[in-house]
Amino acid sequence: MFKQKINTEKINYKSIKPVFDNSKKRVYIETYGCQMNVNDSELVLSILQDNDYSLTKNIDEADLVLVNTCSIRENAEQRVWGRLDVFRLAKNKKPKLKIGVIGCMAERLKEQLLEREKIVDLIVGPDAYRSLPDLLRNVEAGQKDINVLLSREETYADICPVRMDENGVSAFVSIMRGCNNACAYCVVPYTRGAERSRNPETVVNEVQTLVDNGYKEITLLGQNVNSYLWKHKDNPDKNVNFAQLLEMVALVSSQMRVRFATSHPKDLSNGVLYTMAMYENICNCIHLPAQSGSTRMLELMNRKYTREHYLERIAKIREIIPDCSVTTDIIAGFCTETEDDHKQTLSLMTEAGYDFAYMFKYSERPNTKAARQLQDDVPDEIKTKRLNEIIELQNKLSLESNRKDIGKIFNVLIDGLSKRSDEHFSGRTSQNKTVVFPKGNYNTGDYANVRIISCTSATLIGEIEEAKKRETITELKNMIDETINIVEKKIKNTIKKEKKKK
Ligand code: SAH
Ligand code: SF4
Ligand code: F3S
Repeated sequence: MFKQKINTEKINYKSIKPVFDNSKKRVYIETYGCQMNVNDSELVLSILQDNDYSLTKNIDEADLVLVNTCSIRENAEQRVWGRLDVFRLAKNKKPKLKIGVIGCMAERLKEQLLEREKIVDLIVGPDAYRSLPDLLRNVEAGQKDINVLLSREETYADICPVRMDENGVSAFVSIMRGCNNACAYCVVPYTRGAERSRNPETVVNEVQTLVDNGYKEITLLGQNVNSYLWKHKDNPDKNVNFAQLLEMVALVSSQMRVRFATSHPKDLSNGVLYTMAMYENICNCIHLPAQSGSTRMLELMNRKYTREHYLERIAKIREIIPDCSVTTDIIAGFCTETEDDHKQTLSLMTEAGYDFAYMFKYSERPNTKAARQLQDDVPDEIKTKRLNEIIELQNKLSLESNRKDIGKIFNVLIDGLSKRSDEHFSGRTSQNKTVVFPKGNYNTGDYANVRIISCTSATLIGEIEEAKKRETITELKNMIDETINIVEKKIKNTIKKEKKKK
């Protein structure tokens, strides 16, 4: 198995953006799933760019198609099977085209992928991306190849991802991989293996590189960031926990916003909350997935906290960071869920007053603890009904939360043009709420002070505060000019009259 040797001096941070070079072999990458997968695709591109590949955004030009896959719910996998049908057509047209499946499905479905999908040439799991150049050499020579070994050490600490975002403003930085929890419904520990934390110095170096390249916002990624722990090789006093890493990252640049996801309610410490309160550039936003509001369900889900513990954490967030937004994930219709359990989820949502939520119907995943030990016994129409009630409630809560922001001024980081109008920018507040406002004299990547004037449940609508001030000053100046004009005219008239009299 691969042994990781980290030498931070040797880290190669050369090309942070894709290099489009038609003289090289071209790879087309399609990504499904979570932010970690998005960041993994950037890591994969970095490895390929160092090995004579260049990115293409046009599948017709590609020599290699990679699909980075997700297994979290059945519909995520269905989407990928559908895409493989499309890639089959592309390969029929161009038999030399190579097709690779990477990510979480690679790990889970290697046999089916090789057998059912005869078109797949390459299968690589999340911990095996370093072996891509070797595997590709075999694939180019006409063989099929596969590496889905999971590792206890791999964190890709020394590889700087090639950023595929469009705006050059926000980037992901993975600080750990895998997961040591065993939530009964969840496939992630099987697809991504055991939890391991990345060397903090390499995290800080990567953030510095992003600062040097004009990025303004990073999101530290892990399945459970609050259990981040870097163990110093011989001095436990020098271990680094998540609160400490957060501080190290916040100190890189006051102009760099810092976010993180995901926080597990059982591990969210007061230390992290105090660190958030201490640094202006750590965003006031916590994604704290509850999954359910019923302690009975939480126990069956093996979440290792109760409703009361969860609400105590929310109260602590409100006490230490009063303007913090809180967002969540909810699963509707987990095994044995009753109407009463569901009502408890609704009441937890109201008590927590979420600003935003990702909401899902429970989808049984093969081989998970729930699939092995519990009955997926909530009928689909009940799951749908409960999910709809959850969505309806969340829309109401989001609208209430947004209405409270009307009249307030927020420092907004501009992401780019609004989807609906080229005359408007779209940006986000520290609380991660989207704000749309007239452009003024700003650019993508700038910070602007925006006063909120109205809202929907999904978006805040505002106007730039400086522009407003400027408008007021111009109005005042015009009024003064007009008054001077009037006074001047009056004086001139009086002088004329006086002269006539004489
Ligand atoms: N590590 C993160 C999130 C992992 S997956 C965490 O613990 O919060 C993202 C979300 O997908 C989960 O929070 C959960 O709400 C949802 N999810 C995971 N497995 C699921 C399943 N089998 N069916 C439906 N939703 C699921
Ligand atoms: Fe899955 Fe639970 Fe790990 Fe999140 S914490 S990845 S839900 S097992
Ligand atoms: Fe999906 Fe794997 Fe992420 S299963 S949600 S891509 S960790």
